[in-house]
Parts: sequence; C-alpha cells; structure tokens
Amino acid sequence: MADVAVIGLGYVGLPLSLAFAAGGLSVLGVDSDVAKVETLAKSISYIGHVPTSAVADVVRDGRFRATTDVAELRGADAIVICVPTPLTANRTPDLTYIESTARAIGRHLRRGQLVVLESTTYPGTTDGVVRPILEQASGLSAGRDFHLAFSPEREDPGNPIRFADIPKLIGGTTDECRRQAERLYGRIVKKTVPVRNCETAEAAKLLENIFRSVNIALVNELKLVYAAMGIDIWEVIAAASTKPFGFMAFHPGPGLGGHCIPIDPFYLSWKALEYGQRTRLIELAGEINTAMPGHVVARINDALNDSGLAVRGARILLLGLAYKPDVDDDRESPTYEIMRILESKGAVVAYHDPHIPTIRPGRTHHAVQGRRSVPISADHDLFVLCTAHRMYAEFDFATLAVPLVDCRNAARNPPSRFYRA
Ligand SMILES: NC(=O)c1ccc[n+]([C@@H]2O[C@H](COP(=O)([O-])OP(=O)(O)OC[C@H]3O[C@@H](n4cnc5c(N)ncnc54)[C@H](O)[C@@H]3O)[C@@H](O)[C@H]2O)c1
Repeated sequence: MADVAVIGLGYVGLPLSLAFAAGGLSVLGVDSDVAKVETLAKSISYIGHVPTSAVADVVRDGRFRATTDVAELRGADAIVICVPTPLTANRTPDLTYIESTARAIGRHLRRGQLVVLESTTYPGTTDGVVRPILEQASGLSAGRDFHLAFSPEREDPGNPIRFADIPKLIGGTTDECRRQAERLYGRIVKKTVPVRNCETAEAAKLLENIFRSVNIALVNELKLVYAAMGIDIWEVIAAASTKPFGFMAFHPGPGLGGHCIPIDPFYLSWKALEYGQRTRLIELAGEINTAMPGHVVARINDALNDSGLAVRGARILLLGLAYKPDVDDDRESPTYEIMRILESKGAVVAYHDPHIPTIRPGRTHHAVQGRRSVPISADHDLFVLCTAHRMYAEFDFATLAVPLVDCRNAARNPPSRFYRA
C-alpha cells in the first residue's frame, strides 16, 4: 500500500518521489528500467543533483520503495505519471511512453484512485489520450469512478529554488478531480494554482517553454547581428538588464538543449495543424536555435585558420557535454551536434565534462556511447567552451595557451588567442 505511486523515476519522477516522501507520504516508485530500481534499492541516487543521502533517508524510513511491477499500482491512492515525451524521428509527438503507461495503469485501476499526468504534452492529451485508454482498460469512468488531472512539472535541475516554493498548476477532468489533485500536491507545495481544466494546464506549461525557446532564439539572432557590427551581445544584455521593468534577460549559446525546450514547442506546432493553425514563431525560433551549432563550427574554423590549421585533423576539446551548467543531463545537448559536424569534417574531437565522466546509453547519440571525458591539457589545438560549468570560470586557460572559442562568455582567465561564438 502507498499514498502515492510515481511512474517514471527520471529527472522529474525521482525528485518528485523524494518530495512526496519528505512530505510524510508513503511512496511507491515504478520504473521499467531494472537498473534504476536496483540502484534505488541500494539507497543510491543516479542523478547528479539528487543526493544519495536524500534517497537513503526515505528508503531507510520505509517511506520510499521502487519496483518494476506495475501490478503494485493497485495499492496506491494516487498515481502520478512522469514518463518521457520525446519527438519521433520526423519531429512529431511521441506519446508511446504515455500510452503504454496508461494501458498498464488501466489494467490495475480501481475505484477512488487519482491519476495525474505530469509529462509535458500538447493540450488535450490527458482527456483525449490518457482518459480513453484508462477507461477502456479498466471499465471505469473518469470523474465518476476515478479522478484524473494534469499538473505540469516545473523542475529546473541545478536551480537551488526549493520544490515547495514552486507553485503547482492543476487542471482536472472535473472540478472534483482537480480538488483531489490539489489535496495531494497541497501536502508538498506551498501553493497550488487551480485552472479551468486539463487543457489549460497543458497549454500553460507549453507557453512557459515556448516563451524560453523564442526568447533564446531572439538573443541568438542578435548575437550574430551585433557581432557583425562589432558590438558585444553580453555587454548589451547586461546593460538592458538594468531596466527595472519590461525586460527579462536571456542568454545566447551554442544551441538549445535538455529534454524540454528543444522539444515541447513542437508538440503544439503539431497539434495546431489539426486546427488549421500555424505556429510561425515557434518554427522560426526552432530554425534559429538549431542553426547555432553550425555558427559555432564556423568560428572554430576561423580560430583554427588563425593557427594555420584546417578542421580536418585538428585536435579539438569540447568543454561541457551537459546542456546547462553543473548538471549531469546531456539530453539534446548542442555539444553533440558540434561534435558530429566537426567529426564529419575529419576533426579529432574529445570532450571534458566534470559531471559526465562517460557518455551513458540513451535514446540518442548511440555512436558516441561509452566515450570518456578527458583531462583539460595542452594536447589540443583548440578548446571550445560549450557549457558554463562553474569550474570553467575559474580555470586558468591563460597558462595552457591553447586558443579558446567561448560560446558562453564563461572563461574568466582566457588565453591570449580567444574567440567568442
Ligand atoms: N527534465 C526536466 O527538467 C523536466 C522539467 C519539466 C518537465 N519535464 C517533463 O517530464 C517528463 C519526464 O521527463 P524526465 O526528464 O524525468 O525524463 P527521464 O527520461 O529522465 O525519466 C523518465 C523515466 O521514465 C521511465 N519509463 C519510461 N517508460 C516507462 C514505463 N512505461 N513505465 C515505467 N517507467 C517508464 C524511464 O525508464 C525513465 O526512468 C517529460 O514529459 C518531460 O518533458 C522534464
């Protein structure tokens, strides 16, 4: 028996499980990955910013246990779904994880249970995709026999903000469904924010991520425009940031990364077509952001040229494989795309990342799995700083004297041959 079961113990589901357990609930974690479940059974965390001590505390107290057995869902009062929502190879929504999870829940669903979807997805998924699967598999009816809600995850890995301080949006299939979900999350967050229905909560989450994608595209474009004019974009952003209203700083980089911002906006683009609508800003932002690794490679070319070198045969060390500072999440990282382009041109590419000693198996990047981080040394023709990990700010690049291309304005001790990208 458990107060709540969390399905999908990844970057979202594991911290959420620990938050529920820390809030005094008994939590059952369910994941199809046997290795993850076994690791948790040994009270060990597999996510860099989730301390092993936090897992050990709740396992020891008996408030958290992980399993691969979905039949155990029957014993939970509430079931929260945190499985992946990637894109297919054709960049359309891949709901297969949500659908198979809903089928598994449906087989074990019982009267009175609450089911909440947390995975980011297009408006209409909870009531139009999850609900019919649950109802068909269980013979029960949402809103009458069981409760169904959508509550988006707003986790920001690496951000010290406390989980409890992040307001939780909640929409339900019925008002009572929403109230049940508010009761659950009210145990672990200070503020729940009820919205009219599941679609509104789904749409709000997409707005948050589209807002980031579009604004990052804007500064990425301005980076190129201002560079051509001899103006430093970083100084411009710092200057504009002194305005106390109506401006929010976004920063340019080598492209978009992570499981959310490069992917989620296209869930809406796909769904909008069904209504005869185009999402032009989303598509344009996607084009600009995905072109960024190509611009970085052009700067790399310039830097090597200044050394009398070609890309072919050049030994290049990429600094930072994670998509954002001081986390171990490398999903959709633009560093991989830079690596791919450079290797296709014959460069000898290595990477350094203090948080990713080895490239783990994943849904993508099969060709480079198992590759290991190498030390930062003078054995390279060029460094490319891709991720603003804290250690790179302090690092003494000046002494090593290897030319550096900095995509993040992060190096504080740059070498004399220094380039911005
Ligand atoms: N990572 C973030 O920062 C973040 C932030 C907000 C929202 N989200 C959204 O949350 C969702 C989950 O993202 P994530 O980053 O935690 O993904 P993840 O890949 O880190 O974790 C997903 C987990 O689900 C498990 N899983 C897959 N299919 C399963 C099944 N059928 N049954 C049981 N377990 C299964 C996987 O083994 C994995 O452990 C996505 O929709 C994502 O867009 C992520």
